[in-house]
Amino acid sequence: MLRLDKYLADVGIGTRSEVKKLLKQGLISVNGQIAKDSSFKVNPDTDKVTFKGQELTYQEFRYYILNKPAGCVSATKDGLSPTVIEFLKGEPTRDLFPVGRLDKDTEGLLLITNDGMLAHNLLSPKKHVNKTYIAFVDKNLGATEMELFKSGVDIGDETPTLPAEIIEASEKQITDNLKNASINKENFIYSKAYLVTIREGRYHQIKRMFEHFNSNVVYLKRLSMGKLLLDSQLLPSHYRPLTSEEILSLKS
Ligand code: URA
Repeated sequence: MLRLDKYLADVGIGTRSEVKKLLKQGLISVNGQIAKDSSFKVNPDTDKVTFKGQELTYQEFRYYILNKPAGCVSATKDGLSPTVIEFLKGEPTRDLFPVGRLDKDTEGLLLITNDGMLAHNLLSPKKHVNKTYIAFVDKNLGATEMELFKSGVDIGDETPTLPAEIIEASEKQITDNLKNASINKENFIYSKAYLVTIREGRYHQIKRMFEHFNSNVVYLKRLSMGKLLLDSQLLPSHYRPLTSEEILSLKS
């Protein structure tokens, strides 16, 4: 059972105080009776709540995938730059947060939710959730360097990174990922693109791993996190709710 004002705020009708006004105006009904009391208790599984006659569906947790463009920060608030949350126009964003961080200039898959437990499980260093990126760099790694990259790299932290995977990206992966990339195509120079999978989320991790081999990442995009994949139909700056299959796959 939960308070009616919390229920209404959770479904995105408005903030707690806006919801109070809507209740006063008699726009909310519970099981066919107009409800005006914010502290009225409802059972989201069995009670039928309507707003202006439209039945509401309660969802405690919400999950979205955003194709993060460059130029915004993975935070809920920022005085200067737009945040990733601002891209979820028209959604009840009050309690949403990004699961982990991508650098301001990194693009690609970002999970946004209000499910703290799932976020904790995906980010916990003990869980070693795979994150795959395509990294365009200005200097190739040689065969020995790739082997060293795979075994874990000293990036100046207390311990080297965990072993990672790295393979050269195919021509198709390169063209597909550069198609909508927010790079200045005329001046964009790179030497090679790699698919890199890491199991941690250290600060600037991939950039620092390449820097260890005197190679600079010139464009970075995340393609997957655990079993969640960035689909090619989702253009930069666009988002969609996760499907139930995707939610289950992240929890399994
Ligand atoms: N590694 C980085 O260097 N930057 C990111 O945004 C993500 C991983």
